Amino acid sequence: MPCALCHVRGGNKPIIKMNTPPIEDNLEKNIPMLHIGSLRLENHLIMAPMAGITNLPFRMMVKRYGAGLVFTEMVSAMGLSLNQQKTLAYLKSHPQEKPLAVQIFGNKPHVMAEAAKIAVDAGANMVDINMGCPVKKVVKTGAGASLLKNPRLVSEIVLAVRKACPIPLSVKIRSGWSPAAPNALDIAHIIEDCGADAVTLHARFASQGFSGQADWSWIKRVKQHVGIPVIGNGDILTPQNALDMKTETGCDGIMIGRSAANHPWIFRQVLQLEKGLPAPEPGLSERRSLILEHFNLLSRATGEKGAALTMRGFLLRYAKGLPNSSRFRGNIAQVKDLQSLMTLMDDYFHDPENEE
Ligand SMILES: Cc1cc2nc3c(=O)[nH]c(=O)nc-3n(C[C@H](O)[C@H](O)[C@H](O)COP(=O)(O)O)c2cc1C
Repeated sequence: MPCALCHVRGGNKPIIKMNTPPIEDNLEKNIPMLHIGSLRLENHLIMAPMAGITNLPFRMMVKRYGAGLVFTEMVSAMGLSLNQQKTLAYLKSHPQEKPLAVQIFGNKPHVMAEAAKIAVDAGANMVDINMGCPVKKVVKTGAGASLLKNPRLVSEIVLAVRKACPIPLSVKIRSGWSPAAPNALDIAHIIEDCGADAVTLHARFASQGFSGQADWSWIKRVKQHVGIPVIGNGDILTPQNALDMKTETGCDGIMIGRSAANHPWIFRQVLQLEKGLPAPEPGLSERRSLILEHFNLLSRATGEKGAALTMRGFLLRYAKGLPNSSRFRGNIAQVKDLQSLMTLMDDYFHDPENEE
C-alpha cells in the first residue's frame, strides 16, 4: 500500500537537500560510527525519544539533517498488547527515516515482551525500553524511572524482552532515582548481563526531572563499567557540546533532545565540526524551507488543519534565537492552514532586516 506521506503537496522531493552521506563517506571523513548489535548506524548521533515531538514527520526532518538514528516517543506496552489503534499508530514508519528505534514503556515483563514483538512485526529496527521517564503518570504505574528502584524487575523485563526480540535492544536510564540512590552502574551492569545491546544514560537523577545540570561524569563511569555501547545524553546545548561529551566521557553515541527539537540542524552542525569544517547556523531562507517542508510532512500525515495545530509548537521552537521575532512569535496562534502559515512567513522571512 502506498504510504500517505508520499502523496502530499510537493511530491516526494525534499525541499531541503541534506540527505546524509553514505557510510563510506563518513568513514573517510572520520565521522565516528556506531554499531548496536547488528545495527550499523551511519554515524553516532541520535535524536532522543520525545513525547509530542518525535512523531514521523519530525523524525524525517532530523534524519535529513543527519541524525544516525531516530526514536519514536515512548509507546505504552499495555496499549500495544491490547491492540489499541491509537497506540499502534505510533509505530507508523517510513523508509526515509530508517533505521527507527521504537521505545516502549511498562512494568510487566510479559506485556513488554509482547509489545516488543509487535514493534518488530511493525518494522522497527531496534527496540528501546524506557527506564528514565520521571513523569508522575508513568512512574505511578511502576514504569519509566521507577524501575530503577527495582533492579530485580529491571532484569526480568530485559530478559523477557530480549527473549522476544530478535533485533537490537537498548535501555534508556537515568543516573539513579535520586542522589541518595545513584545506581546507574549496577543497573547498566544488569542490563548488559540480561542481553541488551546498548544502554543510554540521561545523566540526571529521576528526582531532578529536567532541572539542574546533567552530570556527564556518570556517563564516563557507566562507559568504564560495561562492555556494550554507551549512549550519552543530557544538556547538549551547542554542536561543540557534543564533541565535548565524547571527549570527556568516551561514550559511543550522543543523544540530543531539546536542542534538536528547537534546532534540528544541530546534527548537521556536529557532523560539520567533526569533519573540521565550520558549522554555521542556517540562514533565513533555509529556515523558511525547513518550516514549509515540516508543514508538508505534517499535512500528509494529518491533513492541513491538524498540521497547523502541531506546527504552532514547532514554530515557537524554530523561532528561538531569531532576531526581531517577537511579532512572528506573537502571530503563531493565527496559523490555521498553509495560507496563514505563508502569510506569517512572508512577513518575517522576506525582511532583510531580520537576516542574522
Ligand atoms: C518534551 C519532552 C518529551 C520527552 N519524552 C521522552 C520520551 O518519550 N522517552 C524518553 O525516554 N525520554 C523522553 N524525554 C527525555 C529526552 O529523551 C532526553 O533524555 C532529555 O530531554 C535530556 O536530553 P537533552 O538535554 O538533550 O534534552 C523527553 C523530554 C522532553 C523535554
